[in-house]
Amino acid sequence: MGEVVLVISGASGAAYGVRLAEILGKDVRLVVTDSGRLTMTHECDGLTPEALVEKTGAILENNKDIGAKSASGSAPIDAVIICPCSGTTIGKLAAGIGDNLATRSAIVAMKERRKLIIVPREAPYATVHLENMAKLSGWGVTVIPASPGFYNLPKTMDDLIDFVVSRILDHLDRENNLTKRWTGDELK
Ligand SMILES: Cc1cc2nc3c(=O)[nH]c(=O)nc-3n(C[C@H](O)[C@H](O)[C@H](O)COP(=O)(O)O)c2cc1C
Repeated sequence: MGEVVLVISGASGAAYGVRLAEILGKDVRLVVTDSGRLTMTHECDGLTPEALVEKTGAILENNKDIGAKSASGSAPIDAVIICPCSGTTIGKLAAGIGDNLATRSAIVAMKERRKLIIVPREAPYATVHLENMAKLSGWGVTVIPASPGFYNLPKTMDDLIDFVVSRILDHLDRENNLTKRWTGDELK
C-alpha cells in the first residue's frame, strides 16, 4: 500500500479525519486547511495538526506549499481523502480550482485518475452543494457523507465516528473491523 493524502478541511466533523489518521498511521500525508485547524482544535479538545502527526507518525504538509509531494502527479500516491469536506472545498473542486495544497492534491487525483473520496458535512445542503457533489460524483469522485447509520445500534460517539470511517476504509480497500457487517439476519 502506498501513501494516502488526507485533507482535513473546515467542515464540522474533524473527529472523522482524526480517527482516519489514527488508523492509517504513517501512510498518511496530512494537509489541514486554516479552517480545518480551527475546527479540529475547537471540536477535538484542543488537538493541533502537529500533535496529531506526532501521535500517528504521519507527515504534516503545509497547505500553502503547493509544490509538496501530495500535489505530485508522478509520486506514488494511492488516494486522496478529504474528511471532512467543506462546501467551499467542494465548490473549488467542481470548478477545477487548485489554489492550495488541499484542493490541488484533489485536482491532481482527478487528472491522474486516482481515487478521490470526499466526506461532506453540511445541514441543510444548498442546491449549489448538491449540484457540485453530483458533478464530482459523475466525474468518478466517491462521495461518502458524514452520516452514520444507526442499524448497528451505536452506543457511543466513537461508534458513530467508526461507522463513517469504516465506510471510507472500505473504499480505500483497507480491511477493517471497525463496525459489525450487516449479515441479513438482523431483522429476522
Ligand atoms: C465552527 C465551524 C464549523 C463549520 N462547519 C462547517 C460545515 O459543517 N460545513 C461546511 O461546509 N462549512 C463549515 N464551516 C465553514 C468553513 O470552515 C468555511 O466555509 C471555510 O471557508 C472552509 O474552507 P476550507 O474548505 O479551505 O477548509 C464551519 C466553520 C466553522 C468556524
